[in-house]
Amino acid sequence: MVTVTERSARNSRRTATVALAALATAAAAVAAALSGPALAQDKTAEEIAKYRQMLAEGNPAELWEAAGEEMWKKPAGPKNASLEQCDLGKGPGVTKGAYAELPRYFADAGKVMDLEQRLAYCRVTLQGLTKEEATKNPFSSAGKPSEIERLAAFVTGESRGVKMNVQLKHAEEKRVYALGQKMFYYRGGAYDFACATCHAVDGQRIRLQDLPNLMTEKGAQAAYTTWPAYRVSQGEVRTMQHRLYDCLRQQRFPEPAYGSDVITALTMFLAKNANGGTYDGPNMKR
Ligand code: HEC
Repeated sequence: MVTVTERSARNSRRTATVALAALATAAAAVAAALSGPALAQDKTAEEIAKYRQMLAEGNPAELWEAAGEEMWKKPAGPKNASLEQCDLGKGPGVTKGAYAELPRYFADAGKVMDLEQRLAYCRVTLQGLTKEEATKNPFSSAGKPSEIERLAAFVTGESRGVKMNVQLKHAEEKRVYALGQKMFYYRGGAYDFACATCHAVDGQRIRLQDLPNLMTEKGAQAAYTTWPAYRVSQGEVRTMQHRLYDCLRQQRFPEPAYGSDVITALTMFLAKNANGGTYDGPNMKR
């Protein structure tokens, strides 16, 4: 015979079991909801925001900037010269605010150049390096640091707080901008993608990443003014050349040669569209 106490004990056990089961169901539902793209996206964004805040006082990119400044000032190459006389467009040796006006036409080279092309030009003309030496290892990998990433970090940092002001005065600047614009909308490759497929629509996402709409003023400014950037996922500072190289790869386009005029054209298009935005690089990205 079952006593009252036994029965109530069994009942409460059952109640507990039911409650636990309900809890488990609820937990599963929460987990399922959390793994849904929207919430996972929010969580990712939250994590990044936290990380950014954590490092707000010290973006690791500062180390790249400091190393780049040292390189800039140190005599090197067959001519044993520093880069301090490099003309980035505002006169020999002027680094302050120079990046905010690039790309631009350079009469000495007879063409429009972006920062990375210009750095290579100065290393060749001032220091006597060959073009191959000046453009060696543009994207660092583990144990193989890149001099270019460091130099670019230094020079871009010298424009922090300066408003983007890219001009289309020279006929070549206009031509190169138009070429960049054409490329932005040019569809091709295995997926028949253009830059615009991913970047001319609001609120689009790919693999949990927000895709900026580069055709809005805000989107263009926010994207352009934050490169180069310390990539948390890669532990390196990446330049605009790398960003575009990585997008062309996602577009399934042929890999562009480092420092090619096609990349400069795209950069011209993006930089000009960011005019008026305050430069805030080297920044930090996931
Ligand atoms: C298949 C989709 C895809 C295509 C096509 C594509 N991109 Fe991207 N792009 C991305 C992704 C993904 C990111 C990274 C977004 C992130 O990390 O938040 C990105 C980031 C960028 C950024 C930096 C945005 C920022 O705020 O940091 C720029 C600039 C950019 N792309 C330009 C281009 C250009 C120019 C082209 C054409 C040559 C292009 N993209 C083609 C997917 C694409």
